[in-house]
Amino acid sequence: MENIFTTVVAISGITGFLALLLSIANRTIANYGDKKLIINKEKEYIVEGGDNLLSTLNEQDIFIPSACGGKGSCGYCKVKVIEGGGQFLATEKGYVTETERLEGIRLSCQLRVKEDIKIEIPEELFNVKQYEYTVTILEDLTDKIKRVRLELPETLEINYKPGQYIQILTPVYDGNEEVYRAYSITTPPSSKQAIELFIGYVPDGICTTYIHKHLKVNDKLNVVGPFGDFYYREGDKEMVLVAIGTGMAPIMSILRYMNENRIERKATLYFGARTRSDMFMTEELKKLEETMYDFTYINCLSRPTAQCEWKGEVGRVTDLIESYVDNGDNKEAYLCGNPPMIDSVIPILKEKGFADKDIYFDKFD
Ligand SMILES: Cc1cc2nc3c(=O)[nH]c(=O)nc-3n(C[C@H](O)[C@H](O)[C@H](O)COP(=O)(O)OP(=O)(O)OC[C@H]3O[C@@H](n4cnc5c(N)ncnc54)[C@H](O)[C@@H]3O)c2cc1C
Ligand code: FES
Repeated sequence: MENIFTTVVAISGITGFLALLLSIANRTIANYGDKKLIINKEKEYIVEGGDNLLSTLNEQDIFIPSACGGKGSCGYCKVKVIEGGGQFLATEKGYVTETERLEGIRLSCQLRVKEDIKIEIPEELFNVKQYEYTVTILEDLTDKIKRVRLELPETLEINYKPGQYIQILTPVYDGNEEVYRAYSITTPPSSKQAIELFIGYVPDGICTTYIHKHLKVNDKLNVVGPFGDFYYREGDKEMVLVAIGTGMAPIMSILRYMNENRIERKATLYFGARTRSDMFMTEELKKLEETMYDFTYINCLSRPTAQCEWKGEVGRVTDLIESYVDNGDNKEAYLCGNPPMIDSVIPILKEKGFADKDIYFDKFD
């Protein structure tokens, strides 16, 4: 027992010493000095070298999507590097395709700014801002999903497209580090001063545990956004919307937008849940069936129990798509939920004739 204790103390000591050395090295040896950062050929910044590009950009109030908070595990933080940036790294391989690599695409959270660097980013990212919201509603929609309403002071507003997302900066709590996590906006863009989110609980998840177990009404919450290319496209194609769980969030924003603007398009939402208690928004969706031009809501349960007293469809959303969607002629699809659902719906839609360009999706991974 004593031996184990001595070994643990020795290992902790060595680890602590190495961490200290690394931090001294970072501050002294790895002092890269000021570097020039040029964005889109015209905007020039003098930045402190040595940090990763994502954080360097954040320091200049330029926010790149980063759903994993810079861990190199979401692939959202891509930027095009024209010059500088150094070697392509092994940690980027899983997220940057060979074609993208040849075009200069890099994961901004992985590469360090060690020399002058020229990059290209979409112009709309200059509209992404950091906001301090006040939490005004926290409501249980199911035993795992909360509705969270966030409000800005009256003088401030956020502009977004229906379907886009924001990132919450989860503060330090219970020894967890500060992390950004992505959450889709459920409100329509007309709601500029307040936004609402549906946040599912992930056991041991840093942000969702904070939201579900620590956050209170009147608390402040730091948010950056808006982000994302999963948003409503204007047009006249029939819309097939597919969601499971909190994937309902961006779909609600799209439907509320269509309803408010009296958009004359046929749209059908296919929603899947496990049991009746995992269903939510049913009342509003039924109302939308009455008020929207041509909207149908079709749902299914994958594991109905006796208590569900369920008389509707049983199965997964994939089964609904198989039986209700006849073909992809003049249709576009919006899919939102976990990666396995999206990866199984896309091939079915393609088989029915949907073109790749007409399938939009947001994977909540
Ligand atoms: C574009 C985008 C939009 C999103 N919109 C929403 C939204 O509207 N509502 C919403 O609730 N979520 C949404 N997500 C997911 C969200 O960003 C977080 O990934 C999720 O809430 C978990 O965060 P966490 O910090 O609590 O968990 P983490 O601390 O990141 O994860 C803890 C552990 O749980 C695992 N894990 C992470 N997520 C899940 C999961 N969903 N199920 C099972 N295990 C998981 C991780 O692998 C890890 O092991 C979205 C994601 C993206 C990329
Ligand atoms: S922020 Fe997720 S991979 Fe870079």
